[in-house]
Amino acid sequence: MSTFEFHISRNLPIYQSMDTVTLLEELWAARQPMPGPVGLVPTMGFLHEGHLSLVRRAREECSAVVVSIFVNPTQFGPSEDLATYPRDLTRDLALLEAAGADLVWTPTVDVVYPPGFQTFVEVQGVSHGLEGERRPGHFRGVATVVAKLFAAVQPQQAYFGQKDAQQAVVIRQMARDLSFPVQVVICPTVREADGLAMSSRNAYLHGDERAAATVLYRALMAARAAFESGSRDAEALRQIMADTIDAEPLARRQYVSCAHPLTLQELDGTVDRALLSMAVFVGKTRLIDNLLLENV
Ligand code: PAJ
Repeated sequence: MSTFEFHISRNLPIYQSMDTVTLLEELWAARQPMPGPVGLVPTMGFLHEGHLSLVRRAREECSAVVVSIFVNPTQFGPSEDLATYPRDLTRDLALLEAAGADLVWTPTVDVVYPPGFQTFVEVQGVSHGLEGERRPGHFRGVATVVAKLFAAVQPQQAYFGQKDAQQAVVIRQMARDLSFPVQVVICPTVREADGLAMSSRNAYLHGDERAAATVLYRALMAARAAFESGSRDAEALRQIMADTIDAEPLARRQYVSCAHPLTLQELDGTVDRALLSMAVFVGKTRLIDNLLLENV
């Protein structure tokens, strides 16, 4: 009796524990007998409730759930935090088993990028502004690794967070352009009680920085309040976010944006629908957050 039969008819008494594999051949062997739909949740590990919400959603919607844990070197810039990116595989595996994952793929760098690797995926338009402008090469690394994950796991559905709004748009575009038969599902941002969006990088926040980090959410809420009371000018909304961030002594604004939710082009004049987003340094830690505004 397989794990998958257990998930389909939940009254069966036997639970086979989650499988963890590293090599591609091991992944293929474990993937092959899975009945569809198979759901994939790509992650870089050091899991929190945001990641686990994706796993639970996949568990509800799919017959089998595959999670990948891979800190992808090609999406980190030379001065970024690849070497110090937080890791705790033992804890991650326990959390994933409890959340109902069937298979965890933890490839090494050599498995994903074997010696002599020379093929990259570059999404044009939607990769260019916002994060793409401040992190050159970032979305090339993301699109490449996610294309490889899709090719290796062959999921019918793949789950991503709204927390990384531009990443979600880039991956949707990549899946469409490369004809991957994968439905890309975007799940809501999970937040701490005080509004801070959950992120593995929150572990870098020390002392007063943790309280100061709520400034991103406060800026988004201030802009939303203005929008809901009739202030619909894109520049005015950007200004409200900028002023809120600039009033926080431990925060340094990198950018604020009020953009079209699909094209990610910066907007001007009156807006009905917009993606508000920002990147802010709190101490040395770079945080991002966003909110979708809709005229209801
Ligand atoms: P990582 O930052 O580990 O995030 C994995 C997934 O969890 C992404 O889809 C991200 O948007 C989602 N996520 C993170 N924080 C969240 C939150 N607070 N609420 C909801 N979802 C959240 O994003 C990546 O890894 C990588 O770029 C990856 C897609 C795995 C490619 O390497």
